[in-house]
Amino acid sequence: MTTQTSNPMWHDSILGAIGNTPLVRLNRVTAGVPCTVLAKVEFLNPGGSVKDRIGLAMVEAAERDGSLKPGGTIVEGTSGNTGAGVALAAIAKGYRCIFTTTDKQSQEKIDVLRALGAEVIVCPTAVAPEDPRSYYSVARRLATEIPNAVYLNQYDNPANAEAHYATTGPELWDQTGGRITHFVATAGTGGTISGSTRYLKERNPALKVVGVDPFGSVYYKYFFTRHFDEDEIYPYVTEGVGEDILAGNMDFDLVDDYVRVTDRETMLMTRRLAKEEGLFVGQSCGMAVAGALQWLEAHAGELTPDDVVVILLPDSGFRYLRKTYNDQWMRDHGFLDQRLEITVGQVAAARPERAGLVSVNPADTLGDAIALMGERGISQLPVMDGGAVVGSLSENRILHVLLADPGARERAVGTIMAEPLPIVPSALHLEHLSTYLEREPGAVLVQDGGGVYTIITKSDLIGALALLSRDGQRVMKSGITE
Ligand SMILES: Cc1ncc(COP(=O)(O)O)c(C=O)c1O
Repeated sequence: MTTQTSNPMWHDSILGAIGNTPLVRLNRVTAGVPCTVLAKVEFLNPGGSVKDRIGLAMVEAAERDGSLKPGGTIVEGTSGNTGAGVALAAIAKGYRCIFTTTDKQSQEKIDVLRALGAEVIVCPTAVAPEDPRSYYSVARRLATEIPNAVYLNQYDNPANAEAHYATTGPELWDQTGGRITHFVATAGTGGTISGSTRYLKERNPALKVVGVDPFGSVYYKYFFTRHFDEDEIYPYVTEGVGEDILAGNMDFDLVDDYVRVTDRETMLMTRRLAKEEGLFVGQSCGMAVAGALQWLEAHAGELTPDDVVVILLPDSGFRYLRKTYNDQWMRDHGFLDQRLEITVGQVAAARPERAGLVSVNPADTLGDAIALMGERGISQLPVMDGGAVVGSLSENRILHVLLADPGARERAVGTIMAEPLPIVPSALHLEHLSTYLEREPGAVLVQDGGGVYTIITKSDLIGALALLSRDGQRVMKSGITE
């Protein structure tokens, strides 16, 4: 009788359990999608997120290049997940960890980092990246002040994207038997999407890659224009994704299309993934799936039953128990409020006077435009040329022009008008509308089925919300009494 020797079934440390996460088919939230849609379930990594992959890779790269020596200190800026991955590597290899994070991140993430033995410094979110108080600046400073310390800098550290090139990409290829046709992912540092895609496109250059961004991040606009627009930056709630900087690991040339998703869509889809698919995942997972479904709906005509779409789900729902999975938090942020289901078209249709759009011609004088605005009591005017929208005038614009040139009243509108007002689809939900109206010139145009334009301003939105809340109360009251 011979003794059977089998391969050992254990890992030498928790680091061996990183990666090789499963692909799971989405069955319910994808109803109507004419192809296979799979989720790469990264919360099954030991630290609870995709970032375990880069924690280990960046620590080992720092050991190799000599910047991290035995007994050294690792400093990193993290929204929480990278910190957990780095902390696991640090525990296995005997390093001290100091992490900087922002006050936007959930308490659960900070608790996890401390549980893993790290020191955590919470910095303000609402400061510019170059501000000395930002979590980027504090991490950089600490790494220079503390002896034998290294700043890993996941944003620009090539070991980040390399880790995904070496692990995530090959896993996606092998687990689909090379059948993956579309890859959808969110981006923060860009390591996940750039590294995985670089590998996958080497295997199949026809692969389509879609990035998903939150409203309030610079990536979406940068992808389409290659212009870093600071006006795109405003606070949003979804954690870990989108940026107010261009991270070195983000390679836009590898991405084929970009979509963006509101916080509300993100939170609601995150909850649906738990309830309908049994995937208890984090916010950016809801964002990735909401973005993927948006893209798949817009491109339904191009899809075939053989297509295999993979969406990467970065982290776990346990990190958001006091946020996305808490009803009060969801209500406080308006994410459970049905009023926002109302579309711009419905607001336009409910406007008291719909007697046609008040506009001026490029050949009219500024004086004519000012008189018209005064007569109608309006603050913005579209400029139309033979039915086409060619520009706009707002009170701010007029003031600016008159201050610079008091004789400008005689000038033709066409020489001083600003960009046309954004034209939004009538199916746009109110929450998307507010992101347009918060910016100059504070108005949009919406076109109905017959091609007729209506202007929607901030005061229209306020009026619509007030009306809806009044009607909503009436409906609620009648529901109680009947
Ligand atoms: C929850 C979550 N989702 C997505 C990402 C984005 O991943 P990447 O930095 O690889 O672009 C991060 C990054 O920190 C994250 O924490």
